[in-house]
Amino acid sequence: MSFRHDLNLAADWVDDYLRRVGELPVAAQIAPGEVRARLPESAPEQGESFEAMLRDLDEVILPGITHWNHPRFFAWFANTGSQPGILAELLIASLNVNNMTWLSSPAATELEVTVMDWLAQLFGLPRGWHGHIEDTASTATVAALAAARTLKPGGVVYASEQANFSVEKAARLVGLDFRKVEVDGAFRMRSDFPLDDATAVVATVGTTATTSVDPVAELARRCNEADVWLHVDAAYAGSAWVCDELRWSLDGVDRADSVVVNPHKWLFTQMDCSTFWTRRPEVLHEAFALVPDYLAATHDAVDLKDFGPALGRRFRALKLWFVLRWYGAEGLRALIREHVRLAQLFASLVEAEPGWEVVAPHPFSTVCFRHTEADNDAIARAATATGELFVASSMLRGQPMIRLAIGNAGTTEADIRRSWEVLRSCT
Ligand SMILES: Cc1ncc(COP(=O)(O)O)c(C=O)c1O
Repeated sequence: MSFRHDLNLAADWVDDYLRRVGELPVAAQIAPGEVRARLPESAPEQGESFEAMLRDLDEVILPGITHWNHPRFFAWFANTGSQPGILAELLIASLNVNNMTWLSSPAATELEVTVMDWLAQLFGLPRGWHGHIEDTASTATVAALAAARTLKPGGVVYASEQANFSVEKAARLVGLDFRKVEVDGAFRMRSDFPLDDATAVVATVGTTATTSVDPVAELARRCNEADVWLHVDAAYAGSAWVCDELRWSLDGVDRADSVVVNPHKWLFTQMDCSTFWTRRPEVLHEAFALVPDYLAATHDAVDLKDFGPALGRRFRALKLWFVLRWYGAEGLRALIREHVRLAQLFASLVEAEPGWEVVAPHPFSTVCFRHTEADNDAIARAATATGELFVASSMLRGQPMIRLAIGNAGTTEADIRRSWEVLRSCT
């Protein structure tokens, strides 16, 4: 069969999947080892047909898939495998360029620089900062801390006790000590800790557990005074900056040294796409620019490999470009606003129900809540076992709680109301 035929089969599969994903059980309902047991011991000796691969995708793989693209996926930070992103990923795979240096693919470099500038404008970040795309926020934070270390080797990285664990991992990777800073009653990092031995401070806009926002402006003032690198982890909540009314959480970010936002979390872009800006590109360059003989530096152009850990770089800018053009700024704002509205609606349903409570402020699209008497982990597991939704339980200040994170472009008010009914019935 021809490649075009297979391509059409894949296109049909994708379209059917997107139409029916909302009817599939959200979380995979299988035991460990079940998928492995259905796969052959070894790779085939002879090539196989694409039809056979698609059949196994349906029969062997799909039952073991947890559907992140389901409108009632609310665990961790929900995301969207959007149509423009799907189309872009196909084209990225077809071009298969490696965007190491300008010369290795000029258009890929120039598009990356351009979409980073577009996004900086949409977010209200300062123009003129260096921006590029990393695979994940974890990598972007490694890059930020490696840069900070070139200025002040051997110091401490401070971050909130609510910071994502990727921050501590990044500190370890670059050989810096890590210290947790206490939070206030609203889970925001305190800003009055000593900075004498600090190499860097990482402030979070939208912490993983509760989406709290650290006092970035005050931390920036103190870090600027003490000449300490301030990195802002806005992996989840930075996408909210497309909306004016949510820009309060941008306060002070213009005085940070670097910032990361993950469009692959809440900006409708496929894994992986993590956008990273710095106002001090020369320090990043100092940390990362090694030029081997076979990759001479490009004159009059930027070589993006010189600003982060990876040499080989995917053409991620193409999917961000498609997403920004497909939705337009208005479309992005409308979706983010709707998610915030749905989170407020969900919180009001919880608050109105005796025996349930909301346990943290919910400024964005994520609500932390709990039943005051029943076993919350059991509720989350029972609700997830229905197949109708997927929520995860966690701990907050030693208390069990459940998180409902809205982030899928297909989520509707009916999904939220139905999910609340299911959760209530699981007590
Ligand atoms: C606040 C925050 N920062 C960083 C990360 C790590 O993101 P990534 O998976 O892109 O490394 C997460 C992941 O959920 C997060 O919630």
